Amino acid sequence: MKESILKNYDLLDDQAMDNTIRPETMEEYIGQTDVKENIKIFVEAAKMRNEALDHVLLYGPPGLGKTTLAFIIARELGSNIKTASGPSIEKSGDLAAILSTLEPGDVLFIDEIHRMPKYIEEILYPAMEDFSLDIIVGQEGNTRNIKIDLPPFTLVGATTRAGDLSSPLRDRFGIVSKLQFYTVEELTDIIKRTSRVLQMPIEEEAAVELAKRSRGTPRVANRLFKRVRDFAMVKQKDAITLEVTEEALERLKVDKIGLDSTDRELLLAIINRFNGGPVGIEALSSSIGEETTTIEDVYEPYLLQVGLLKRTARGRVVTDKAYEVLGIKK
Ligand SMILES: Nc1ncnc2c1ncn2[C@@H]1O[C@H](COP(=O)(O)OP(=O)(O)O)[C@@H](O)[C@H]1O
Ligand SMILES: [Mg+2]
Repeated sequence: MKESILKNYDLLDDQAMDNTIRPETMEEYIGQTDVKENIKIFVEAAKMRNEALDHVLLYGPPGLGKTTLAFIIARELGSNIKTASGPSIEKSGDLAAILSTLEPGDVLFIDEIHRMPKYIEEILYPAMEDFSLDIIVGQEGNTRNIKIDLPPFTLVGATTRAGDLSSPLRDRFGIVSKLQFYTVEELTDIIKRTSRVLQMPIEEEAAVELAKRSRGTPRVANRLFKRVRDFAMVKQKDAITLEVTEEALERLKVDKIGLDSTDRELLLAIINRFNGGPVGIEALSSSIGEETTTIEDVYEPYLLQVGLLKRTARGRVVTDKAYEVLGIKK
């Protein structure tokens, strides 16, 4: 089995951890300064006008804090939050059922909104624009249209691919924010916060080392923290030291710059099997046995960000830096 800190983890465990360490206020939400500052102002203004906040679209790679931010927005508004995910809304009735429970000013959070069926999107347009719901009820041969007024609400959508959203849907979001990868300093703060919440002390240099190897992603930082904590506990340490951290990361096959085995496999495949590229996403996908969407959403964004991979019109190419990092002569 492939060892990957990005994919193969214990989902239940991860969720349980998420609930304890997920920041609940803007103050606790580290980094993303521009996004945060803007949203704070829009929230404040909406509250002053006593109106629902404009619809918000949050996009960016997995694990950067979209869901967390959606919950914080609801909290700052002093509103309830209802949640749904794109693929789970299959029938118009599913959406109608959720929408009809909304109270004035509530937040409806739709995760993976790009995976919502197109005909559901069409019901969502008037709901977003005029707070009205047009649905067809009844059995075949005996149907009628009904129009239901909805209270003003805020739709918060999250997606890893803003490009997959149809433009009429995208245009209906008044606030569109792209989340960025985090700096080492920000991730160090996140790790220290997790260490306090989980009551497992971590030495400064160990926290920095973990941060450097977390692919700019808080979810990865927290997962690595937890695994390193296991090593420290077994070794009967009462704090996470640099030594334990390095040893644990080596065992987890997370390298010096935070690439995991799938990242390396992807780069190596392009180098060894495709002569450094360009290679199309389909060919790359079958070569390493990962779905194209997983490559595009989970692995590529960070490799592009740190300049190990480039996208050209003819496909993916590895950079000179990738050869260097992997210790391969071009
Ligand atoms: N800005 C942040 N500050 C502190 N922790 C964060 C931040 N963003 C995300 N996290 C942590 O990372 C985890 C993953 O975030 P999440 O909101 O689920 O990401 P996404 O929805 O974008 O995939 C959360 O459980 C949270 O603990
Ligand atoms: Mg999420």
